[in-house]
Amino acid sequence: MDLVGVAYTSRSNHPIASADLDLLLMDSRSYNSQRGVTGVLLFGAGQFMQYIEGLPTDVEHVYGRIRRSTLHSDMVELEQRRISKRVFSKWFMGFRDAPASVIQKLSQEQWHRDMPLVEGHAAASPGMRQLMVFLDLISTDQR
Ligand SMILES: Cc1cc2nc3c(=O)[nH]c(=O)nc-3n(C[C@H](O)[C@H](O)[C@H](O)COP(=O)(O)O)c2cc1C
Repeated sequence: MDLVGVAYTSRSNHPIASADLDLLLMDSRSYNSQRGVTGVLLFGAGQFMQYIEGLPTDVEHVYGRIRRSTLHSDMVELEQRRISKRVFSKWFMGFRDAPASVIQKLSQEQWHRDMPLVEGHAAASPGMRQLMVFLDLISTDQR
């Protein structure tokens, strides 16, 4: 199946209270589940890092909503590529608090843009593997 994955970082425009984050996540999960878009959002010290995946038209819709949001700015796209299978198939939008240092480290990793189709997790970009290590989905020795 032809899927795409997109990762980016951004900065919140205002201090975000946990109630605001809850609303953002509720809204995102509701829309993402209608669209079949899965992924994960990290937030800490005013920085966001998000990865979304799904069918190209669905990802484009969700990515459009994200880009239009006035809650954040300074978006930097890290990865945009075709993927052969989902990494976060059960998470319409997983969430983790992350220290700024982790988000910064992830943004400095190598991500893949417009790479040919690759198979499975073994061929994930170094950035994606680091994200999975942070989320405890794979252990460090599988990097
Ligand atoms: C960091 C961040 C991540 C978001 N992720 C999603 C998402 O995964 N799916 C989605 O439909 N909308 C997502 N949104 C958009 C929000 O659900 C919502 O539409 C938006 O924040 C409303 O903000 P506005 O009042 O600035 O338009 C995201 C917004 C931000 C700031």
